[in-house]
Amino acid sequence: MQNTRPILAWETLLDVDSASGSDVAGPLRDRVENALRRAIDEGRLSPGAAVPPSRTLAETLGVSRWVVTEAYGQLVAEGVLEARTGSATRVAERQEMPEATRGIENPVPRDPAPASAPPIRYDLRPGIPDLRATPRSRWAAALRAGLADLPDRELAAAHPSGYAPAREAVAAYLSRSRHAVADATRITITHGATDGMGLLARELHRRGHRTILVEDPSWPRLRIVAEDNGLRPIPVPVDGDGIDTGQLRSLTSGTGARATLVTPAHQFPLGAALAPARREELVRWARDHDALVIEDDYDAEFRYDRRPVPALQRLAPDRVALIGSLSKSVSPALGLGWMLLPPDIAPAPSPSTPSLIDQAALAHFVTQGDFERHLRASRTRFRRRRQRLLDALTIELPELSVAGISAGMHLVLTLPSHVPASAVVDAGASEGLALTSLRRYTDATDRPDALVLGYGDLDDALVEEAVARLAALVR
Ligand SMILES: Cc1ncc(COP(=O)(O)O)c(C=O)c1O
Repeated sequence: MQNTRPILAWETLLDVDSASGSDVAGPLRDRVENALRRAIDEGRLSPGAAVPPSRTLAETLGVSRWVVTEAYGQLVAEGVLEARTGSATRVAERQEMPEATRGIENPVPRDPAPASAPPIRYDLRPGIPDLRATPRSRWAAALRAGLADLPDRELAAAHPSGYAPAREAVAAYLSRSRHAVADATRITITHGATDGMGLLARELHRRGHRTILVEDPSWPRLRIVAEDNGLRPIPVPVDGDGIDTGQLRSLTSGTGARATLVTPAHQFPLGAALAPARREELVRWARDHDALVIEDDYDAEFRYDRRPVPALQRLAPDRVALIGSLSKSVSPALGLGWMLLPPDIAPAPSPSTPSLIDQAALAHFVTQGDFERHLRASRTRFRRRRQRLLDALTIELPELSVAGISAGMHLVLTLPSHVPASAVVDAGASEGLALTSLRRYTDATDRPDALVLGYGDLDDALVEEAVARLAALVR
């Protein structure tokens, strides 16, 4: 008689039949395990509480002892229960997940912002497109259509340079819109510009290259990926006309470098378009030295004072490899891009090609006109926002000079000599104003301190407020 009470209590406490919700008919072991987990989660079994010996609980629940030892074993492995030799198995002391973060519906945030840094309210980071304007429904439609059209036999086929319809769509877009000399056989679909740069660097290294001439300043990630693949970056200064081709030549004689990475349409981050004479000179340099020019065509579509400058690749399809990406023009979340390669360059197939379904979506997104519609709408929005930002800067900080405004999604604001950009950036972060110093893109110390202000993701309604806060920090 004495034993009945605890037996009934455990039976009620665990409620094995309802514990697994709709899966009442699931394996008994899982139902016992889930019932225990739920009792612990809901606080009916407290940390430190002993659970009955497996034989006792098995008898109570009318199940085999194996079922209970298996359930206990799983929960011990997960750290939910603790088994100590010579004493009872107990609920682990560290049951610290708060109610709101339990379960799949409420995952624990993976990267919580430090308590001291408020979330970004004024997003002036360069390189981020308008996240609010992500063409979600058009991309979803492209995914649906792309998937529906994918023939079964393609699903397991090798596509070393990418899915043919995606390559054809990108080649047509580059010819039409960037005036590139492109056909599908020379297109490789990539995860983006960084991926393309990595593949090219690896191929150059295989061909004996050990150095690459890079613009200074420039976006660090592409330099780093070149270096990771065995090419030492050699900085070449940039001025108001783009990369200094005179210096490029002299650095070539000094180092023997026969490859360069450039942003001719809109130098990143200073914003110059490569001057026509320098475009010619760059191509001449490549021919004279049997060299390769890598053209990072990252935001060429967003040109405001005139029509976009055609891709440099057009001048020398045999000497220029163009790399493109949807990261800045559509969304960094897509992880898609392309390379247009000279005929004699065929990098080893990538160990990780983009998802075939995503490539099928890309093909649809481009051929249905969604990509170019999105670019046109973005251009109009960015032009308006850029003007608003310039007007606000003229009112709030009239004494400061602004450069690199004719294209893209960012501009360069030179600071007064007594104001260090790093101090402004740090102070901005503490008020939700995300700023970037030009120093992030260069090791050279002879340039005036400046901020690279991105306006791709800046909320239109907050432009004036953001600039007023920036002006207060600068002053
Ligand atoms: C200069 C430049 N090129 C290319 C990219 C795109 O790189 P990815 O496609 O690897 O995201 C960026 C992104 O910020 C960039 O700033």
